[in-house]
Amino acid sequence: MSAFWTVFIVVLTLGNIAACFWLIRWTAKPRPNESASTETTGHVWDEDLTEYNQPMPRWWLNLFYITIFFALVYLVLYPGLGSYAGVLGWSQYGEYEAEVAAFEERVEPLYAGYAEQSIPELAGNESAMQTGQRIFANNCAVCHGSDGRGASGFPNLADDVWNYGGEPDQIKHSVLQGRQGVMPAFGDQLGEDGVRAVAAYVYTLNGRDWPRQDLVEQGKEQYQTLCVACHGPEGKGNQQLGAPNLTDETWLYGGNMASLRETLTGGRNGNMPAQQELLGEDRVHVVSAYVYSLSQDRQGMTGGDDN
Ligand code: HEC
Ligand code: HEC
Repeated sequence: MSAFWTVFIVVLTLGNIAACFWLIRWTAKPRPNESASTETTGHVWDEDLTEYNQPMPRWWLNLFYITIFFALVYLVLYPGLGSYAGVLGWSQYGEYEAEVAAFEERVEPLYAGYAEQSIPELAGNESAMQTGQRIFANNCAVCHGSDGRGASGFPNLADDVWNYGGEPDQIKHSVLQGRQGVMPAFGDQLGEDGVRAVAAYVYTLNGRDWPRQDLVEQGKEQYQTLCVACHGPEGKGNQQLGAPNLTDETWLYGGNMASLRETLTGGRNGNMPAQQELLGEDRVHVVSAYVYSLSQDRQGMTGGDDN
């Protein structure tokens, strides 16, 4: 807080308290030339109802003095006067930290218990999965969607197609260490025509037809020299490298011609941030089980979305 606002707040707050004090003193005094017990204010209601002009009762005024005293003590102890922190050092931030710490302490044994169970075991444990869903919603849904179904560039975690593998250990590895997909750019090497040809070949890999067979043949040749190292001779991909299977109907970046050409020309570099530091191993274990459970629910279904 800037010095100006600190001064502004201090003057305003203390000024108000001083004004209250003065007001109480003022009302406490009997008016001059008035004998306190018998004078009336001169107001008359309902023909004969009159009002005595008397000072406020002592006990009532004392209540006001007490509130002023309370306010001053409060302002000494707690932050209230601009950037002055109060002698107790209390802050909302500190309060929040303490609450979080207390919460962590309470849930720690819970996670420790979960850590001893295997991922498939946890996937069948309803309360563990509720916890897993919460962790997912808070930490993963921004990228993978609240239902885990992903978006272009962010893999669908609820189908049974995995670029890095869907076994419990592989999922946990993905989450714990993160993943960096490296699909090199081939625009310069292939040129526009080359990109068109290879894209045509990739287009046909999952059983679709492309109108120009000569282009497909030409692309296949290029594929055999440039792409097999990562995507394999049949285009089935490689989970060690995160190179996607190009023969299924699921695409990370899109399987239409325009997306394929964009992928080949500019390359792709998907980045899954490592969660070890952020969440700690025990939470990663639970959320990995949740991800595993998502794909188990849909085992056998292939995601046909062509994004
Ligand atoms: C900043 C965005 C982002 C966040 C947050 C994120 N991910 Fe990812 N995740 C990605 C991307 C991008 C990939 C694909 C990486 C690649 O293309 O190589 C990925 C890949 C994965 C994979 C591998 C999928 C496969 O097909 O093998 C898993 C599993 C995964 N994420 C789980 C999670 C979980 C669980 C969380 C939350 C704890 C999470 N992710 C948080 C962006 C994110
Ligand atoms: C160095 C290994 C490597 C080489 C070589 C390579 N790729 Fe890839 N490719 C990858 C990786 C890894 C990804 C995933 C990128 C990501 O996760 O962001 C990928 C992604 C793709 C995709 C996107 C798939 C989708 O689901 O959207 C296509 C298409 C593709 N590659 C085609 C090719 C073709 C064609 C070639 C040869 C010209 C090639 N790749 C060469 C590693 C490679």
